[in-house]
Amino acid sequence: MVILEKLDLLFINKMNPEDIIKLYDLKPHPEGGFYKETYRSTGVFNFSCHENSYTGPRNYSTAIYFLLTSSCKSKFHKLGSDEIWHFYLGGSVTIIQLFENGRVEKVVLGQDINNREKLQHVIPAGCWFGAYPDSETEFSFLGCTVAPGFDFKDFHLADYDLLLNKFPDHKDLISALTK
Ligand code: GUN
Repeated sequence: MVILEKLDLLFINKMNPEDIIKLYDLKPHPEGGFYKETYRSTGVFNFSCHENSYTGPRNYSTAIYFLLTSSCKSKFHKLGSDEIWHFYLGGSVTIIQLFENGRVEKVVLGQDINNREKLQHVIPAGCWFGAYPDSETEFSFLGCTVAPGFDFKDFHLADYDLLLNKFPDHKDLISALTK
């Protein structure tokens, strides 16, 4: 019995990204990585088109599981709502934010909270952002929540040429996170 429990623990500790993809039925995301929506509020904001940037009704809030493996990244994109990233399992991941004024901010999500890694981070609406697992990381298992809720109509993947034209000083970063 004790040996079995130890084997179980070994198995849990050895969890790999393929296990997580299977367990949660994650699917490829257009920005890179794998995801599964876990929550979509039944309540809806009835935005009219001229009220703000939303082009119609949006759920109050949504949540997803999101997985990045060592061989993938979240490419530069922006959303119409603030998005909160939550760290769950695995190794650390660096989020890169590129603001309208050209400022770049890097944030590391991870469990080493005594070493400036964060368990949660908010990316403001309209900010270009992407992410990559850090060098020692096999996978990062995360959550992303959005309010008003996620809609692909509010999701914009960056185009290399357009972004480079806007932010010529950040060629390497833009190249790394758009291709
Ligand atoms: N649903 C589909 N894609 C996404 C995403 O990138 N973020 C969130 N929060 N929900 C999604």
